[in-house]
Amino acid sequence: MLGDKVTGIPNHELSNFMLKEIHEQPSVLVDIIEGRLSRDSNKLELLELNLSDQQLKSFETVLFIGMGTSLHAGMVGKLWFERIAAIKAESDNSSEFKDRNPILNKKTLAISISQSGETGDTLSAMKTAKESGATVLNIGNVEGSPASKFADHNLSMAAGKEISVAATKSFECSLLTLYMLAIKMGLARNSINSAAYNSMINELSKLPKMVTKILETKTQIEELCSYYYKYNHFLYLGRNLNFPIALEGALKLKEISYIHAEGYPSGELKHGPMALIDKNMPVVVVMSSDSFFSRNLNTVSEIVSQGGKVISVVSEDSDTRSNKADNVISIPKSSDLLSPLLTAIPLQLLAYYIAIKRGCNVDQPRNLTKSVPTD
Ligand code: G6P
Repeated sequence: MLGDKVTGIPNHELSNFMLKEIHEQPSVLVDIIEGRLSRDSNKLELLELNLSDQQLKSFETVLFIGMGTSLHAGMVGKLWFERIAAIKAESDNSSEFKDRNPILNKKTLAISISQSGETGDTLSAMKTAKESGATVLNIGNVEGSPASKFADHNLSMAAGKEISVAATKSFECSLLTLYMLAIKMGLARNSINSAAYNSMINELSKLPKMVTKILETKTQIEELCSYYYKYNHFLYLGRNLNFPIALEGALKLKEISYIHAEGYPSGELKHGPMALIDKNMPVVVVMSSDSFFSRNLNTVSEIVSQGGKVISVVSEDSDTRSNKADNVISIPKSSDLLSPLLTAIPLQLLAYYIAIKRGCNVDQPRNLTKSVPTD
């Protein structure tokens, strides 16, 4: 049986692990948040992390490494650490990183992200980072994995077992873990004050309900997919924290539906991708964050004026009158910082329903495996 009370949807509606895992997200988020926030003081406690505030403060650079979905989490992590912890941060694809001549030292904290903890390229990149003097912290989902054994420090993404090849809940949980770690680092480095801390923690406690609210729109997203599933190419655009989410949305779609999909920073549109825009190329524009809303509106207008079709992911309170998108997926309003944890969800559902309507095996896509131990 795939369904249970955790997913909130009856068994007969759950025909595969991917949908089950998408629906488990609110419940695993609750467990992580409750497990890491002390009830009385709202203090963030990453208990298994044996790095003191003093040690966290001593790092000068943070480097994120990972592959696939885990790389996308690391790209969001880089932006969070810059903004929340005010520390120099970089992210790289593990495979590329291990072939570079990276300039690291003992003031570098290298954060590897790997759901399986056995991705060959990520293990090699961790080795390169350690040999270059860095301290290696692994964020993983499998206890006792090779990555967890090799790392100097470990933090669990605590997503629970994930069976479907396409990562969904592990992505969300790795994002949440990185967000909490960025806040912890920000406190250690005094880059956030108590008012900012309280506001972030307060919003975080509302996250599971916000995710539930998005999942409740699945019928609307499914209907949208009845129209879009016949297209053979998609573009995904996003800015700043939502650029890696655009990449992840495109990855989800290509992994499980075999549709050609590419993610770009919205600002890159005019530097090539615009030439691809026509009525056969739907564009998903992730535009929920306030800071970039008007620029994203311009992006949508430009695509529509070239005859393109746009699905936009927006905050529910945004002014839709000036949004020329053909379809709008509304999500709860959040701060810019929290938005990736929300925008990721409708893109999972979009990929899922498109793949289902194309008759694809979403749990076991052709040519792909859940873990890739060889590099
Ligand atoms: C494979 C999986 C992806 C995953 C990637 C990295 O390609 O199909 O879903 O994102 O490996 O896996 P990891 O276990 O290191 O997170």
